[in-house]
Amino acid sequence: MSVTIKSPREIELMRESCRRLAIVHAELEKIIAPGISTYDIDRKGEEIIRDFGCIPSFKNYEGYPASICVSVNDEVVHGIPSKKRILKEGDIVSLDAGLIYQGYHSDAARTWGVGEISDEAKRLIEVTNRSFFEGIRYAKPGYHLRDIGAAIQAYVEANGFSVVRDLCGHGIGTHLHEDPEIPNFATHKKGLKIMKGMTFAIEPMVTAGKYDVWWLDDDWTVTTQDGSLAAHYENTILITDGEPEILTLI
Ligand code: MF3
Ligand code: CO
Repeated sequence: MSVTIKSPREIELMRESCRRLAIVHAELEKIIAPGISTYDIDRKGEEIIRDFGCIPSFKNYEGYPASICVSVNDEVVHGIPSKKRILKEGDIVSLDAGLIYQGYHSDAARTWGVGEISDEAKRLIEVTNRSFFEGIRYAKPGYHLRDIGAAIQAYVEANGFSVVRDLCGHGIGTHLHEDPEIPNFATHKKGLKIMKGMTFAIEPMVTAGKYDVWWLDDDWTVTTQDGSLAAHYENTILITDGEPEILTLI
């Protein structure tokens, strides 16, 4: 499918979809603690989304079996919630969630520490979050997609970490994944010219070690190959005349 420019009406629906998703994340942050299972996090997330009258967009997406992707420590993304996976002090956990409101998708991810975490883990989360903000300095008309990815990569690598190459951000709207793909690193091509009214999910995935990942036999979970910690931070944004609007932050 091609890249879409959202109308004012569509932008209003995207805003509301994203506002609701921000609340989901704020609620989930509150329950992150040693002893909770990744299954419980998924149950709670799906409950909030459905209480809003919205649809959890990940559920059954290409067969994904849950509503929230819960990825612990060396798991980068798409971890499958399980009653057996109990969070413990010192873990880091990435929650990726999406919902549909009146036909419009929102998509956002956060990484949290469980109880007290190491200084390296704290720095990894901090650098991952900041790399998103470095990237979206170029999410403006006049720049190209490569400018976003190049800024993310430069910031991450200057801080001694690595950017995952296997997965990208993406356009978003009436579909969870729309064109264009948005790499978190500098591509050879300058990529699409950014225009007002585009909506993107920008989602740096950062590792404390090398960037190589394994795709596990459960068909979903992506882990670092070297066992290093990974963090993920994602927001749905709107391109405007000036600064981008970060729709999934409240
Ligand atoms: N934020 C992720 C993405 O953009 C979540 C989708 S994975 C799913 O790819 F399959 F669980 F939906
Ligand atoms: Co996404």
